Amino acid sequence: MRATVVSATGGPEVLTYSDCPEPELNPGDVLVDVIASGVNFIDVYHRMGRYPLSLPFVPGNEGAGTVAAVGEDVEGVSVGDVVAWANVMGSYAERAVVPVSHLLLVPEGVEPELAAAVTLQGLTAHYLTHSVHEVKPGDDVLVHAAAGGMGLLLTQIAKLRGARVIGTVSTEEKEELARQAGADEVLRYRGFADAVRDLTGSGVHVVYDGVGAATFDESLAALRPRGMMALYGQASGPVPPVDPQLLAREGSLFLTRPSLGSYIATKDELAWRASDIFGWLASGRLRVHISRRYPLAEAARAHEDLEARRTTGKVLLIP
Ligand SMILES: NC(=O)c1ccc[n+]([C@@H]2O[C@H](COP(=O)([O-])OP(=O)(O)OC[C@H]3O[C@@H](n4cnc5c(N)ncnc54)[C@H](OP(=O)(O)O)[C@@H]3O)[C@@H](O)[C@H]2O)c1
Repeated sequence: MRATVVSATGGPEVLTYSDCPEPELNPGDVLVDVIASGVNFIDVYHRMGRYPLSLPFVPGNEGAGTVAAVGEDVEGVSVGDVVAWANVMGSYAERAVVPVSHLLLVPEGVEPELAAAVTLQGLTAHYLTHSVHEVKPGDDVLVHAAAGGMGLLLTQIAKLRGARVIGTVSTEEKEELARQAGADEVLRYRGFADAVRDLTGSGVHVVYDGVGAATFDESLAALRPRGMMALYGQASGPVPPVDPQLLAREGSLFLTRPSLGSYIATKDELAWRASDIFGWLASGRLRVHISRRYPLAEAARAHEDLEARRTTGKVLLIP
């Protein structure tokens, strides 16, 4: 089969489209013909070696497709079922092996491409708004990169829960998208903490910060006393070590650096989040904006565009 392979870490050019051995189907696994693979920022960190993996590897943590074969000890899944997954490596490929523990059956009424586009970021937006901080009606919520893949979903889900959403973006086009997703206020990054204080008085209840180094300090300053700093990514670079005393000085703040795996660790938790996300999609309460589709052979171009902030919403690779 053909897949994208990383044999040495580095820039987008290390993503090479090659012939690869078929992935091995072990007990508890399902083999899937991939219809679409989701591109996520974590794929960039893996490619760069910021989150080290043993080489060579097939990147990609998310996708959707049709079940081609079912391993021993797998129940409730049949050849031909349309499925999706997140947090499973090897998705930038024509075929992927997915442990049944991570497999989601895509309900009728949800297109496979949409499932590939929403699974990883949708589950993440769900745990951030329901578990890291349970967003309540009337909460003030700050969402950075509000027109990005994560940002558009966080904005919509926080609105579903009755919050006032303040977004940050870098361009006018992105501002328009964030507003269409329901953001009440949209700011540029420069001086955003002061602008948030002007809008809210005492600051926001929670900041969802996937930008990292460039926004971290001001994000803390934008929080109200006892607010929650959810640092869930680092698109602009890693945040330097933090003195816990800073949290006291800024008003007894909470700081967490969560990752998806801890919030879908049980089958029940994964099923709860997925059923909410797919349910909202099917009923039209959640919309997924797929801004770009690239042939799988052009994964390098997809990474270049994501890193250069040229994309909005979701980016897919099509085998
Ligand atoms: N912890 C978890 O469980 C988890 C799960 C999924 C994703 N994430 C994190 O969520 C974040 C967003 O991921 P995504 O895939 O949805 O990407 P994305 O938001 O679609 O793209 C990244 C966006 O970040 C903004 N940005 C600000 N400064 C940047 C810089 N120096 N370089 C690049 N981008 C910059 C850009 O929007 P503007 O141009 O508007 O600034 C850019 O479009 C990432 O940090 C990712 O690691 C975490």
